[in-house]
Amino acid sequence: MYSASDNRYTNKSVRHAGNTGLMLPPISLGLWRHFGSADPLSDRRDVILHAFDKGVFHFDVANHYGNGKSGFGSSEELLGQILKNDLKPYRDELVISTKVGYEIHDGPYGIGTSRKSLLQGINDSLERLNLDYVDVYYAHRYDDKTPIEETVRALDDIVRSGKALYVGVSNYEVPEMKQAIAMFKKLGTPFVLDQMSMNMLNNHVENSGLSNLLKDNGAGAIAYGPLCEGLLSDRYLDGITDNFRIHPTNANLLDDGKEALVAKLNKLNDIAKNRDQTLSQMSLAWLLRDPVVASVIIGTTNNDHLDENLKALDNLTFSTDEVEQISQLIK
Ligand SMILES: NC(=O)c1ccc[n+]([C@@H]2O[C@H](COP(=O)([O-])OP(=O)(O)OC[C@H]3O[C@@H](n4cnc5c(N)ncnc54)[C@H](OP(=O)(O)O)[C@@H]3O)[C@@H](O)[C@H]2O)c1
Repeated sequence: MYSASDNRYTNKSVRHAGNTGLMLPPISLGLWRHFGSADPLSDRRDVILHAFDKGVFHFDVANHYGNGKSGFGSSEELLGQILKNDLKPYRDELVISTKVGYEIHDGPYGIGTSRKSLLQGINDSLERLNLDYVDVYYAHRYDDKTPIEETVRALDDIVRSGKALYVGVSNYEVPEMKQAIAMFKKLGTPFVLDQMSMNMLNNHVENSGLSNLLKDNGAGAIAYGPLCEGLLSDRYLDGITDNFRIHPTNANLLDDGKEALVAKLNKLNDIAKNRDQTLSQMSLAWLLRDPVVASVIIGTTNNDHLDENLKALDNLTFSTDEVEQISQLIK
């Protein structure tokens, strides 16, 4: 039987989502890739429980996550088994988030953020997760076929029904975020986070003004894909393999070809070495230097990688010189 480490909160700071009461570990674990029905449950259980033992108390899923069409929902099911069999005594310590908006089943209500998709979606997610409530429920994407008022109202109703404590949105850009924030405020909805693609090589959130918008409205950003599919680790320093798949939000990084990108990664790695960090540690620290970033959601199936990444927290500060050097390289 699993019993959590007594040291799980030793020396680990927590961060607030904006100026709300939602507290998160600086590094969270996401279960998007390789946590579905086709993956070995006991190995994944090991990583999830190891993470919790190390103070990672936030786990992020989505109803869409799993192994393709036949496996949609299976990442929630995998986490649900662990929540039921291992983490149940710790439910009050955990922050579990899930999302709705990408495909989950056939038909028009299997996708998008209509009222029907959301109200059904939360019930189905709770069943798969073996939970009575989630801590954060997200609209996974902006759905231009549904009025934003309808999505916001449905999220608000879900909180009022007790099925979610807070709400968030994901992949919302400045125009839709502005509208949604105004409506959340009017309804008094506990909106806390915009979950966005953020990494050292992709500063769209800052450049687009989203970061300031969230700051000004007391909400937080939460970074997904902070290691850019593993590019920002030591994995590709000798070259990017043919089977490497980049997320669409980072696709422009390959505009100048793989070799140019690898050269840049090596230069960043040199700076990391001078800081006594690995490239992945420096990359996570770089994002966390901005207080609007409530947490960075890494994806890993490997306990050694998890431990390496968590050590990023030992040094989150950058000298002016380091900031200048890095800014030059990533511009
Ligand atoms: N809202 C959205 O639209 C959206 C989109 C994408 C992702 N997300 C969320 O963000 C989470 C993380 O996304 P992601 O998986 O793209 O994150 P990521 O952490 O940027 O990349 C994960 C990749 O990095 C590798 N990796 C991690 N640490 C490493 C290390 N120290 N050394 C070498 N390789 C390392 C992992 O391989 P190993 O398994 O071998 O460690 C994996 O291949 C998802 O699970 C999901 O919860 C949300």
